Amino acid sequence: MWGGRFSGSLAEHMRLFNDSFPIDRRLWAEDIRGSIAWANGLERAGILQADECQALIAGLRQVSQEFEEGLFLPLTSDEDIHTAVERRLGDFIGALAGKLHTGRSRNDQVATDTRLWTLGALKLADDLIRDVQAALLEQAKAVGDAILPGYTHLQRAQPVLLSHALLAHFWRLDRDRQRLHDATKRVSVLPLGSGALAGTAFAVDRAALAAELGFASISQNSLDATSDRDYIVEILAATALLGVHISQLAEDWIIWSSAEWGFVALDDAYSTGSSLMPQKKNPDSLELARGKSGRLIGNLVTVLTLLKGLPSAYDKDLQEDKAPLFDAIDTLSLTLPVVAGAIRTARFNTERMAAALDDAMLATDVADELVRRGVPFREAHHIAGRLVREAEQRGVGMRQLPAESFVAAHPSLTDVAGLFDFARSVAMRDVPGGTAPNAVRDQLIAAQHVLAEG
Ligand code: ARG
Repeated sequence: MWGGRFSGSLAEHMRLFNDSFPIDRRLWAEDIRGSIAWANGLERAGILQADECQALIAGLRQVSQEFEEGLFLPLTSDEDIHTAVERRLGDFIGALAGKLHTGRSRNDQVATDTRLWTLGALKLADDLIRDVQAALLEQAKAVGDAILPGYTHLQRAQPVLLSHALLAHFWRLDRDRQRLHDATKRVSVLPLGSGALAGTAFAVDRAALAAELGFASISQNSLDATSDRDYIVEILAATALLGVHISQLAEDWIIWSSAEWGFVALDDAYSTGSSLMPQKKNPDSLELARGKSGRLIGNLVTVLTLLKGLPSAYDKDLQEDKAPLFDAIDTLSLTLPVVAGAIRTARFNTERMAAALDDAMLATDVADELVRRGVPFREAHHIAGRLVREAEQRGVGMRQLPAESFVAAHPSLTDVAGLFDFARSVAMRDVPGGTAPNAVRDQLIAAQHVLAEG
């Protein structure tokens, strides 16, 4: 492809080092789409005759068919997907294939192919995340008004609805989808026509190319366009954060599934055993999901590091952008369906959750009640705290303290029995976004809307 000015050939290990075909071969469909559009562009610019353009396109379709059927046989001289497609086109249509690369460089070609591929990947990622959200929503609906001890610092804090705790993860995932969606407008920018760095010397209508390939806009600067990988960084940042969110979800559920908690049991389909300990049932699905976040974070760091310090325009370093991008999408394709399946098939033990609620988790409700009876909150907090300590010293639940203790703590604290009710505590938090069954019903409707929007 570029041998004219060379008298020697590449060292064998250099050839292997330089070849990107094993990785970028998966861009074959995008490469051929881009080449068909380019041929049409050259014809419109008067560089190709109509019959030449038709012959090129017919040949490209033959190459496409070979890839589609898994019959494409790479040669060692196929350095990357671009040279492989052009070489095979030549096998089919002869010397005319040599006209296709007029005014084009692999620099604007690979940028175009990768962006086209990424647009498809964004759609796939959106569908995958949406399905995890759907699984969370299904479970949130199925568990009704079951109450769970809510934790902060992994210490029992206040009762919350289980559905509320499940939906907390729904909204994180929703922001992940928004971030990926938002990146689309920066992905959907056509670099083709930028040439190697300076723009093409032929009068190709770039807007028409963009329209044919489905790009929303065209790049404004050829030096920038051939080296812009910002959109990859953005997507890898969004998928890294998504990986972190999935890891956090997994962590909640792994804790809940231990014998000490016993709030949830994963289905056998998403658990594995131990080769040594016969009793073990391990939440491997979620542990692996938690672990995969490491790759997703790593991919972001790889590309940021790759870009740092590059001089303007294309450098071969940029060939290293695709493995992390592909890996991120592959990792999501493996991980998210498993996570959705593990969520859908899990069974909650609401009795265990109820048994894990203790009266001290209602201390805030006691303080709030004092506030309603006219005590400033800071003082109320102190009084409720003393009652917690007294119950602890006597080794009883707060509700078992004698009436005198409450009155001694504050004279207004008569008639407190009704306070020691977890359902009441939850129902009191009836603000939008709160954990009251009323509020959570609105939240479920909002979540439903989000999913229905697409
Ligand atoms: N395989 C290369 C890549 O992925 C294509 C562009 C090569 N350009 C070049 N000037 N050698 O980046």
